[in-house]
Amino acid sequence: MKVGGIVRPPGDKSISHRVLMVAALARGESELSGLLTGDDVKSSARVLRQLGADISAINDTRVAVRASRFSHPASRLHCGNSGTTARLMLGILAGQRFAAILTGDASLRRRPMRRVTEPLRQMGAEIAERGDGLPLTIRGGRLRGLTYQSPVASAQVKSALLFAGLTGDVPVTVREPYRSRDHTERLFAHLGLGIHERDGAIVFEPSSPSNLPSFRLSVPGDASSAAFLVAAAVLAEEGELLIENVGVNPTRTGFLVVLERMGAHVERVNLRDEGGEPVADLVVRPAQLNGTEVPAAEIPTLVDEVPVLAVLASRARGATVFREVGELRVKESNRLELVAANLRAIGARAEARGNDLHVEGGDQPPRGRVETASDHRLAMAFAVLGTLPGSDVKLSEKNSVAISYPSFFRDLRKCFE
Ligand code: S3P
Repeated sequence: MKVGGIVRPPGDKSISHRVLMVAALARGESELSGLLTGDDVKSSARVLRQLGADISAINDTRVAVRASRFSHPASRLHCGNSGTTARLMLGILAGQRFAAILTGDASLRRRPMRRVTEPLRQMGAEIAERGDGLPLTIRGGRLRGLTYQSPVASAQVKSALLFAGLTGDVPVTVREPYRSRDHTERLFAHLGLGIHERDGAIVFEPSSPSNLPSFRLSVPGDASSAAFLVAAAVLAEEGELLIENVGVNPTRTGFLVVLERMGAHVERVNLRDEGGEPVADLVVRPAQLNGTEVPAAEIPTLVDEVPVLAVLASRARGATVFREVGELRVKESNRLELVAANLRAIGARAEARGNDLHVEGGDQPPRGRVETASDHRLAMAFAVLGTLPGSDVKLSEKNSVAISYPSFFRDLRKCFE
């Protein structure tokens, strides 16, 4: 297959959530462009509206956000499939003096929340939960500052605590085992909020009185969405793909580092800055890949790209191992088990051994049925394999791509026209 043309991934999901939330807390009207229009971002917008924010219809050209004082929501805050909405909103609600109930869809209700509720309790939020997850009730209030060593490298945990510091007007220091994505820190710094790094920890210091101005910001394209297009181009036989406007924040581009080690070179051109985030266009050419080892320290920089990297590893020469990817069990699905099981289902060799994922490379055409478990990243990762000559990959469903990349199948087709 020959790859070619120019594609643009949708707006970054992580950044879209954060800018909506911060804009809803700011004074006056903010203007956002390039937002992701996926279901997860709509979940954040819906929840913020329920609390009183005035947000125009979500689109990728211009969204106006007018803040107003948050107040007790008349009904439950439904976070849909979005872990980022649930966890970051918990942080925001911790600093509000009313009670709210958060819930989500069946997948989100299975995901752990105690990693966030535990430190928020230490700050003074009252949280009533039945198990380790949604639904739960949070009553915020007067908070205390917190110094916290997170047991997991999670940007959602870190960001929830930074948001609690912001809404509760208290200092917060967070340490994590490995550095997770730093979009919240970059956004705070871009807006002049008191954030810095001290001895490897992230430190938020509220400036008194807390004053968050409205802002205009353009959201870069999502590196995690671009990763599927990069993968499709690497697996092609000839040609060259230009992927425009991709966020290349180093805490998100571990997959490019691993790809380089595997033998593919993705060129970054037209490097620029957008709202405190580095952005580039990517030039991708087909390559013969070799297996590699992905150590635990690298995982946070590519945590959402393990499914697509595992798919690429199944086409490489030799074996690939992803170390310490136990966190994948608590994503939108049990990605650790499902990536391995689905690779086996299409004729590849893969298995989860403890918290490691092992994948053997091969060159047989992939054929079989893939269970996506309604997980957008599984659907997209395995759809990429379906572009190989002689392949026959049937996905159990395709609609889940609407979570993070509504135009995914159209864009994938476009790369091979
Ligand atoms: C996200 C952080 C990551 C990632 C998720 C988005 C964020 O989760 O998997 O898709 O926007 O902060 P963890 O913080 O749980 O690792």
